[in-house]
Amino acid sequence: MRVLVTGGAGYVGSVSVEALAAAGHEVVVLDDLSRGHRDSLPAGVRLVVGSYGDPAIIRPLLAAMPVDAVLHCAARSLVSESVENPALYYRENVAGGVVLLEALREAGVYRFVFSSTAAVYGTPEVVPITEDAPLRPLSPYGETKRTVEAALHWYGAAYRLRSVSLRYFNVAGASALNGEVHDPETHLVPNVLRAVETGQPVTIFGGDYPTPDGTCIRDLIAVDDLARAHLLALEATAPDDPRTAGPTGRGLALALNLGNGAGFSVREVVAAAQDVTGRPVPSRIGPRRAGDPPVLVADASRAREVLGWTPACPDIHDIVRSAWAWRQAHPAGYRA
Ligand code: UFG
Repeated sequence: MRVLVTGGAGYVGSVSVEALAAAGHEVVVLDDLSRGHRDSLPAGVRLVVGSYGDPAIIRPLLAAMPVDAVLHCAARSLVSESVENPALYYRENVAGGVVLLEALREAGVYRFVFSSTAAVYGTPEVVPITEDAPLRPLSPYGETKRTVEAALHWYGAAYRLRSVSLRYFNVAGASALNGEVHDPETHLVPNVLRAVETGQPVTIFGGDYPTPDGTCIRDLIAVDDLARAHLLALEATAPDDPRTAGPTGRGLALALNLGNGAGFSVREVVAAAQDVTGRPVPSRIGPRRAGDPPVLVADASRAREVLGWTPACPDIHDIVRSAWAWRQAHPAGYRA
């Protein structure tokens, strides 16, 4: 089938594009390249440069290249930025998301997979977190993702849209072709590996959390595993698939956690990087970072049951190893 991937030149998007192309799908990427990289895309994938939230781009695109389904990975996605500049997050993630949904409605596209986040839960009362946990986002980022999830529910009920929202926990690692490069980089694994490369210590944000070693615990999931789940989620939105069939021919909006179901502390990630690289990882304990819940671990059993998905690479050493291999193969990051 032909799939439109918004944000397909970004980190998760590009690895998902690889997986889709490898499975024989025709992929069209829509990316404004504000944070994506042109050279992340495999040969044969068509790139349209522009924003999903611009009706002057998305409507003619869908008219010229009818698509069967959409993978919506593009978004603003930094928690702290969203707290400082909520308008940006509402404008792009919410208003832009509605522009996209409206263009799809007009074009008669009824299959949608959405990049959501564990940030919709806020600080969980119970860990591991199931999809039935209360949604109490602590940031505009999480709130805007929750808002789009809710829109998908109502679009399903009223307009037959079939959708799967994938609530990512902490994505890490690399495929053979694509890895994680952000500017600024805020994520743990790239910051730890940068410390190995530069000798400049990585700051561990808080050593006094109520966890066994005092540092936060996160559920790190390999980006390749995440990408595979996108393919399975797209299949679940097929017109005859009971998993996204609502009552009386309506569409159903599913929400699924994607995580390993295992938690790793920040110190464990640092130790894994030391093992994998065979080099010291200079680190120092700094103050807590605002808004970091102590423990975020997914109960991903629903994704296993509904999609038949299991992580192939659950080991933290393997995840860090893939990130390290990619960085060594791409010392200057992306060219474009
Ligand atoms: N951390 C450090 N030092 C760093 C970077 C991170 O100690 O240099 C710690 C953080 O404090 C946190 C853990 O490593 O405890 C993971 O931090 P990341 O920034 O890698 O990831 P987050 O857990 O903050 O964010 C991720 C996703 C968000 C999502 C969020 C859900 O990237 O999109 O999980 O809370 F919203």
